[in-house]
Amino acid sequence: MSHSHTLRFLFLFFCLIHAPLFSSSSQQEQEQQPHIMLPSQPTQKKLTTLHFYYHDILEGENPTVVQIIDPSNTPNSLGTTFMMDNALTEGPELSSKQVGRAQGMFGLASIQDRGMVMLINFAFSEEGEYKGSTLSMLGRNPVMDTVREMPIVGGTRLFRFASGFAIAKSLWSISTEQHFVVEYNITISLP
Ligand SMILES: *[C@@H]1O[C@H](CO)[C@@H](O)[C@H](O)[C@H]1NC(C)=O
Repeated sequence: MSHSHTLRFLFLFFCLIHAPLFSSSSQQEQEQQPHIMLPSQPTQKKLTTLHFYYHDILEGENPTVVQIIDPSNTPNSLGTTFMMDNALTEGPELSSKQVGRAQGMFGLASIQDRGMVMLINFAFSEEGEYKGSTLSMLGRNPVMDTVREMPIVGGTRLFRFASGFAIAKSLWSISTEQHFVVEYNITISLP
């Protein structure tokens, strides 16, 4: 191969390798909310976004959240802890298509405010787009704020080595005392 052929080949090779990644990450960046500042990402990492609704069913015949620790006389109910196995749905209605379950725990972990510790494994349906993969979220959840951010610390199957963040927004307008709905946008980078 002549020198110019070699250069052209290398250039084409570079474009082929990188084109899908460039378009994928710039598309994802457009979907970010303006107030979220992403650190500059190495272009090799692929950004993936997930969007779903989370349902805390607190009372009734089939609650999906149960209290497991009920400490007495602690400041600001510190230590009060719940376990959940909540439905994740495509749309805001509980009757819309189920995409997975949120299985984990949350507890009151702040003497000053309603800051919770949140520990959730998002388990996506076997037959869905994410084929039984999981994402693990661990973070501080100041539940009185309408919009919160929590870290995604890892994943399995399609989401191995995932890291990122979740934006959770309480949908007060459609929530009741028995049924609390939260909209989630999760952004992860995968190797
Ligand atoms: C999630 O992303 C969609 C699309 O960018 C946006 O319309 C929605 O407001 C976001 N919701 C949250 C909770 O970030």
